[in-house]
Amino acid sequence: MSKLLITNIGLLATPTGRAAKSGREQGEILKLKNAWIMTEDGLITEIGTGEPPVMELERCFEAVDAGGCLVTPGLVDAHTHLVFGGFRQHELADKLHGKTYLEILAEGGGILSTVRATRAASEEELTAKARAALAEMLMHGVTLCEAKSGYGLSTKEELKQLRVVRELQDSQPVELVSTFLGAHAVPPEYKNDKDGYVRLICEEMLPGVAREGLAEYCDVFCETGVFTVEESRKILEAGLALGLKAKIHADEIDALGGARLAGELGAVSAEHLIAVTKQGIESMKRGGTIACLLPATSFYLGAEYAPARSFIEAGVPVALATDYNPGSCPSLNLQLVMNLACLKDRMTPEEVLTAVTLNGAAAVGRAGTHGSLEAGKKADLLIWDAEDLDYICYRFGSNLVRTVIKNGLPQSF
Ligand code: NIG
Ligand code: FE
Repeated sequence: MSKLLITNIGLLATPTGRAAKSGREQGEILKLKNAWIMTEDGLITEIGTGEPPVMELERCFEAVDAGGCLVTPGLVDAHTHLVFGGFRQHELADKLHGKTYLEILAEGGGILSTVRATRAASEEELTAKARAALAEMLMHGVTLCEAKSGYGLSTKEELKQLRVVRELQDSQPVELVSTFLGAHAVPPEYKNDKDGYVRLICEEMLPGVAREGLAEYCDVFCETGVFTVEESRKILEAGLALGLKAKIHADEIDALGGARLAGELGAVSAEHLIAVTKQGIESMKRGGTIACLLPATSFYLGAEYAPARSFIEAGVPVALATDYNPGSCPSLNLQLVMNLACLKDRMTPEEVLTAVTLNGAAAVGRAGTHGSLEAGKKADLLIWDAEDLDYICYRFGSNLVRTVIKNGLPQSF
């Protein structure tokens, strides 16, 4: 049995509950001064303030002194494209000369260039690369992470990507939630037959993914020149029929209506949402869909920022994630996302904390077990080089996480 006692916590800050928080509640954070946390076998057993129970200390608890610092739940990165071959630094010059993301994609670059690199890589190579990325994420405080496929774009290659996620699930500390994103782009083989590719996704890829239990979610890149709202509906409904819950890259660049579709289908989350309309927000509210915002992508594409305040005012829960990928966000630093969410999305540090913990966990179906510091939940927590929440949203560019505790175990780097 592994028991751990974390003492001398200057400020413990956490959302509470087992479901996503919206509206005013998104900014309501429990703050305890001079606190301690007791864990056993990877779960939190008790939280208190003042002197920790000495009797328990004597019963051979391993103790960690938080040094009077801030402690929060481990961070949840609810939207990443974790597994891919290569990077795309060669596109930087085109970008600097004014080519847009969709223009680069239409010329066979962008996602399609990463598809070539991912297909050329072996499962072992992809696993090693993603493992290194996860180690870096953990160092930056991420203890639970979503991982999408979408750079294979054939049945064999999509399954290869998803198997990498399965291999990594139990062989490194960050917990993973897997999403099938076969509808990320139309592969060159189907350039002139998009209907054929949609059929392949619905009739071969999705059943294959479901048969092997390789993903919990199905996602679609619903965007001009990629998949239309109707194609997205077809694919997400096929996934739902096979037990895969829906997510959607919606209204990122153009207001196509992906957010409206997300609400109609009761999707768990809609992501990006830079160009979302009022109707889209209302539909998401009706459907119980979480808005997963990705401000580091806005930064990297030089785009607008999603209207976080409109979601909060409308009572739609907001989660924040990196969108880590080789094109629109080659960074896995969720702390940077927290800075941008404050400065550009005008969210408060309290709302941001909920967005990267409890609401992120809800966006990947884990709010019952992860995302807050409460008895019975996972002992995933961070000791920060900081004394309060404002500090971690105000400083930027440094890794402010001092100690990561995953499943009740202090991690060493
Ligand atoms: O979420 N928008 C679509 N997909 C990714 C980018 C993937 C890539 O450019 O490789 C995103 O931004
Ligand atoms: Fe994405």
